[in-house]
Amino acid sequence: MCGIIGYSGKRAAMPVLISGLKKLEYRGYDSAGVALATDNGMLIKKQSGKVAGLAELVTTDPQHEQLSNAHCGIAHTRWATHGPPTTDNAHPHQGPLGKIVIVHNGIIENHNALRERFKAEGNVFKSQTDTEVLAHLIEAHYEGDLLEAVTKSLTEVVGTYGVTCMAADEPGVLVVARSGSPIVIGLGEDETIVASDAAAIITYTRQAIYLDDNDIARIEGSQVDIHSLGLGAVTRKQTEIDWSTDAAEKGGYDHYMLKEIYEQPEAIKNTMRGRLDTHRGTALLSGLNLSPRELVDIQRLLIVGCGTSMNAGLIGEYAVEDFAGIPAEVEQAAEFRYRNPIVGRGDMVLAISQSGETADTLAAVREAVEKGSLVAALVNVVGSTIARETGRGIYLHAGPEISVASTKAFTSQVSVLLMVALKLARANRLSREQGTIISREIERIPELVELVLKTNDQIEEVAKHYASYDNCFYIGRGYMYPVALEGALKLKEISYIHAEAYHSAELKHGPIALLEASMPVIAMLNKGPGQDKSLSNAAECKARSAPILGVITEGDEEARSACDHVIEIPDCPHYTSVIPATVALQLFAYHVAKIRGCAIDQPRNLAKSVTVE
Ligand code: M6R
Repeated sequence: MCGIIGYSGKRAAMPVLISGLKKLEYRGYDSAGVALATDNGMLIKKQSGKVAGLAELVTTDPQHEQLSNAHCGIAHTRWATHGPPTTDNAHPHQGPLGKIVIVHNGIIENHNALRERFKAEGNVFKSQTDTEVLAHLIEAHYEGDLLEAVTKSLTEVVGTYGVTCMAADEPGVLVVARSGSPIVIGLGEDETIVASDAAAIITYTRQAIYLDDNDIARIEGSQVDIHSLGLGAVTRKQTEIDWSTDAAEKGGYDHYMLKEIYEQPEAIKNTMRGRLDTHRGTALLSGLNLSPRELVDIQRLLIVGCGTSMNAGLIGEYAVEDFAGIPAEVEQAAEFRYRNPIVGRGDMVLAISQSGETADTLAAVREAVEKGSLVAALVNVVGSTIARETGRGIYLHAGPEISVASTKAFTSQVSVLLMVALKLARANRLSREQGTIISREIERIPELVELVLKTNDQIEEVAKHYASYDNCFYIGRGYMYPVALEGALKLKEISYIHAEAYHSAELKHGPIALLEASMPVIAMLNKGPGQDKSLSNAAECKARSAPILGVITEGDEEARSACDHVIEIPDCPHYTSVIPATVALQLFAYHVAKIRGCAIDQPRNLAKSVTVE
């Protein structure tokens, strides 16, 4: 959460920082700020609101010229944790004498104790943030060497940080450090760009170093010296970022979310490329690094994740049990982390995370490792913490997902989970012939998604009928229950309509009391096991005056007659229908939110990567 960028080099730093902040804005967007090492000393400009406001502020500022001539600076876009999104609480923050300036992601957990200590010494704080406390601490240790001051300070803090600092007396120098919150160092020619994620640096360079936890680096121009706290100098591997610059732009779409919805056929193809063997009826998942012998030993799969990734996991649970006949369980990562889970021999923990940085999922991974479990991860962001800590897993290769509302990551996660289920199944009871049938159906998924995308105009029309409601239910059963959960999550996060998903059978155990003409029900009624029961559930809702929007299989007249409006998806097996059905619900949520005039790419209170508990 929150975005950090820093620059040291020959270019004017400000345009790099402002354009970087725009790329990072999806990580938090309630206030933004910039600090530049100018000929007139350190200048800080910040304000509440979005990066566009900050860009306007710096261009109209009387000190614009000095700001524009600086070659070193740091900037931040915030998702508030400590203190509301005011200008005072916006980063960068300074020490009491203005010698040190910092931007920070994460949480300093012992900030209260440190604040009291400094207050007793007479320091005055301008903000309510934990970050300002860290700035005071660094300044207290500062004796002319920023690296040394930050190193000493970080040994006194408890919590998580990705931090970038400058000192007024060392213009041109950046010190960056990480513990639990990512920092990537982009290595340019005569310049270095540091950021909290690669999206902000790929315009300038693809050569990057991802810091490990407890790493601290001093940067001056192209000179990068990395140390591990308390262990001295270290060398970290240089990697090449393979995203295209276009991938991190809107490319003519009104919103990143719409662009990413439309990217799904390609994203899923990339996810599946070289991984499906239709001839042998299996999947090739070398990243799992498990032989068929080791796969047979897996007696139970424990899937952990949060939000959309957890919903994908729920579909994985159905597929693993369905194809492979081995038990699978999904658990919210925070719950897994704190309830002292029983993880035995024969269990494999599979962590799912688009960003690979979600604090609860990372903690669940660490707990599973601690318990001696076999742990693997499905992650989109290459080099992310979860990917590195598990060391075993499958990258999604879905490309950068900028929209806060996850779309292509979900469908890529589900595609991988179907392949994992197939692989486990082939190592167990599934025949080659059955495996071939399933793998051919999985191979068709991109084509199914293309067909749904072609119905965008119809979905937009349907959305007009539902955009003015304040509440709604989503219902589904079997594989379609997690689809209902995901559809409701998408709608609520971008349109602010109160959307609740229930298993279709659960409705009459309480929630049905809320049904009336102002409570539409979005019902998963496509063909598959239990469709007859789902149709009866929809009829029960209709009998109570609830408007029914059905997701139905193309041409299914019986299902159509049960609904007031329908969204049609192509005919396909129930285990792959989850993907076209979800894509249809993504488009539905998108159009509803657009009609309601919502900030689709930057929904209120949210951020892309949830790196706090
Ligand atoms: O990066 P992760 O997949 O670990 O993120 C988990 C959730 O925070 C994320 O899926 C969230 O629910 C999305 N905003 C949903 O669209």
